[in-house]
Amino acid sequence: MASIQIVRFADQDQFEFSHHTGEAIPGPGQVLVRVEAGSVNPIDPIVATGALAHAAPATASLPAVTGGDFVGTVVTLGPDVEGLRVGDRVFGQAGVLVGGSGSFSTFALAPAGFTAPLPEDISDEQAASLPLAGTSALQALEALNVAHGDSLLVVGGGGAVGSLAVQLAASRGATVVATASPEDAEYVRSLGASDVLDHHEATWEERVKDFDALLDASNVHQPRWRALLSTLKRGGRAIFLSSKPDAAEARAAGVSAQSQLTEPTRERLTAVATEAAAGRLAVRVGEVFDIEDGVEALTARVRGKVVVTL
Ligand SMILES: NC(=O)c1ccc[n+]([C@@H]2O[C@H](COP(=O)([O-])OP(=O)(O)OC[C@H]3O[C@@H](n4cnc5c(N)ncnc54)[C@H](OP(=O)(O)O)[C@@H]3O)[C@@H](O)[C@H]2O)c1
Repeated sequence: MASIQIVRFADQDQFEFSHHTGEAIPGPGQVLVRVEAGSVNPIDPIVATGALAHAAPATASLPAVTGGDFVGTVVTLGPDVEGLRVGDRVFGQAGVLVGGSGSFSTFALAPAGFTAPLPEDISDEQAASLPLAGTSALQALEALNVAHGDSLLVVGGGGAVGSLAVQLAASRGATVVATASPEDAEYVRSLGASDVLDHHEATWEERVKDFDALLDASNVHQPRWRALLSTLKRGGRAIFLSSKPDAAEARAAGVSAQSQLTEPTRERLTAVATEAAAGRLAVRVGEVFDIEDGVEALTARVRGKVVVTL
């Protein structure tokens, strides 16, 4: 069995590729999956720093396998698993933060509730890249209740979550404006954004206003949520993926604002797969690494998702 493991909590040099043996037996509500590919999410290197160890019991004793997103085949069903069969092609989340054993491994234990059957016509690269980003985008649009005719501002429209949110919102008939780096502007327009603003411009927020909804899908953690709320109309709604807005302060300003903790449920995964199979949803894949070069994958700086094949 090949895997990429966190060997020690540290900011760098914390990953190691290893060959090891051992049989994982799925517990209640888990499935054992032969993983074909996984993808890197921004949370994966953060888990490896140890900053989230309190939320990830599987990292209590290192080494622990990194990665969460996966596509693969169900090998064994644990007790109390419904709706999945041995041999099913599936995708989902097996990260240690959601009760899995880590996906960058030939075999992974995944929570059955965060695993969904996958149509054959979605490629491994797409399937490996969609679980967390796709369900994050979908959950945010659900919370924002984005509907036909609404105006939505997506901050970070060139990123994985942002680009998927642009596509989902545009196909619901919303008018979508997004921010992106200039090199991503055409790409984001091609996904359905009617206008793209350069987020490197210091005061871009001042040029837009009166949105019904706002999704901050950028990887900016500092508290600039106040400035972003000024882009909403009265009664507008905002979701922040990487910052925690003050809900009471937002209410006092006449809008609503919440952070989000994504739950990559089977229902959401299935909805994402349905959109992808219909050709209405695709994620940009930046680079594909073999598991043996996967340590490099975890720190690669590319536009688009980084996929690791097993
Ligand atoms: N809360 C949750 O449950 C949850 C779930 C999923 C993701 N997330 C978080 O959501 C964020 C996005 O995830 P992702 O997978 O989409 O990451 P990603 O693919 O790396 O996308 C991040 C995007 O943010 C953009 N960005 C960087 N600086 C910006 C700025 N100052 N203003 C506006 N946009 C800026 C980047 O554009 P450039 O590189 O072109 O500057 C990039 O397109 C990450 O922080 C991730 O950890 C949270």
